[in-house]
Amino acid sequence: MQTRAATKDENMQHNKKTRHVPLDSNIDRITTLQNLLEDEISKISNNVTLHAWKILPLRYQTIIMGDRKLDCDTSSEWKPELKYDFDPITGDDEIVTVDLGGTPIQCLKKGDALQHIVKMARIIPDYRKHIPSIRNMEMDDDDVIICAFAKSGTHWLWEITSMLRNGKPDYHGKEKTSAMFEFVPAEVLRASPKPRIYNTHFTPQGLPKQVFDRNCKILFLQRNPKDVLVSLLPFLKGHKFLDSAIKWDEFICKYMELEVESSLLNWFYYTRQWFEFLKEGHDNIYCLAYEDLKDDPVMEITKLAKFLDVGENSDLFKDIAIKCSFHNLKQAATSKVETFTINNKEAAKKITNFTYRKGEVGDWKNYFTIGVNEKFDALYAKKMKGIDFKYRYSL
Ligand code: A3P
Repeated sequence: MQTRAATKDENMQHNKKTRHVPLDSNIDRITTLQNLLEDEISKISNNVTLHAWKILPLRYQTIIMGDRKLDCDTSSEWKPELKYDFDPITGDDEIVTVDLGGTPIQCLKKGDALQHIVKMARIIPDYRKHIPSIRNMEMDDDDVIICAFAKSGTHWLWEITSMLRNGKPDYHGKEKTSAMFEFVPAEVLRASPKPRIYNTHFTPQGLPKQVFDRNCKILFLQRNPKDVLVSLLPFLKGHKFLDSAIKWDEFICKYMELEVESSLLNWFYYTRQWFEFLKEGHDNIYCLAYEDLKDDPVMEITKLAKFLDVGENSDLFKDIAIKCSFHNLKQAATSKVETFTINNKEAAKKITNFTYRKGEVGDWKNYFTIGVNEKFDALYAKKMKGIDFKYRYSL
């Protein structure tokens, strides 16, 4: 029997009937399905009906979870495990739109924490229940919490702190996301072995209330915002929060217009919240800068050790600096990431590559044009008025 290729019209007819999306590659297929869903969400968001909001999260689950073929087709792509319930969105929930280029993203907002309602639903706990449970979580006097805006060197400081507290230059057995307030249920965090080192990108208003009643120590890590933003774009794209096609020029322009008060995305908002909080004068908060750590790691580790009260041990501090150098940490991270990508080496490599990208001070100079730089400086002066802190933009 002779066969012939289907005509374009027949294909279109077929696609209409089966609701398939004609696409070149399977990886694009997932992304496009997700984008189509987001389109539909944004289309109806101006005219929200309770009924529609109730259905959409369920449809998302059906497509991503129910249709197992999609996962199989993208064997080179790691799909995170969907393990938490995500209740239907109701009229009481606050939904905000974030536009950082590409398709605007719909997020659930709880306090100043954002949860991407398509891509982060069911991968992390539902923020409507999770944020209050973290706020009410019990803390112990010897718990340490690392607080930093995303891409400020949190992984780095987490490993250093872990080595200092254990008195050995051995890498932490787990990836730092296993100890993040954003992703892990309070009861699991509480059940983790001591000494506990939590980490978070939350502002002070998102921390467990007991942090301030107990003797817990907080490490507040900062990095200059220009390098942070250069690092943020590949991170957001890598985690599929933003479309992979978004270019730096578009991103930075949109970023400078970002108004949403988000602990995860808005560096200006996040940093102001912390500075306002520090002004109140709290004990047990130690401030560090990425650039200082890069400039003289042994000295910074020595000062940190004093704050953590772990005793003087200059040989250990030197060993820790070496073990936690960018290249050593990156190498050690790959095998850890493999454990949560369920041994998908290719996916682990990708994640490690955008998490440990360059590890330099001043890479922003390769991205900021003169015009963007001037605009950014002016915006900084406006948004950070009254904040007396000097970031280091080069070493
Ligand atoms: P770049 O993207 O500029 O390379 P976080 O851990 O908060 O997500 O921050 C990630 C940033 O810290 C990345 O920045 C990463 O490379 C950098 N980083 C991680 N470990 C580092 C190290 N040992 N030395 C210098 N930078 C490091």
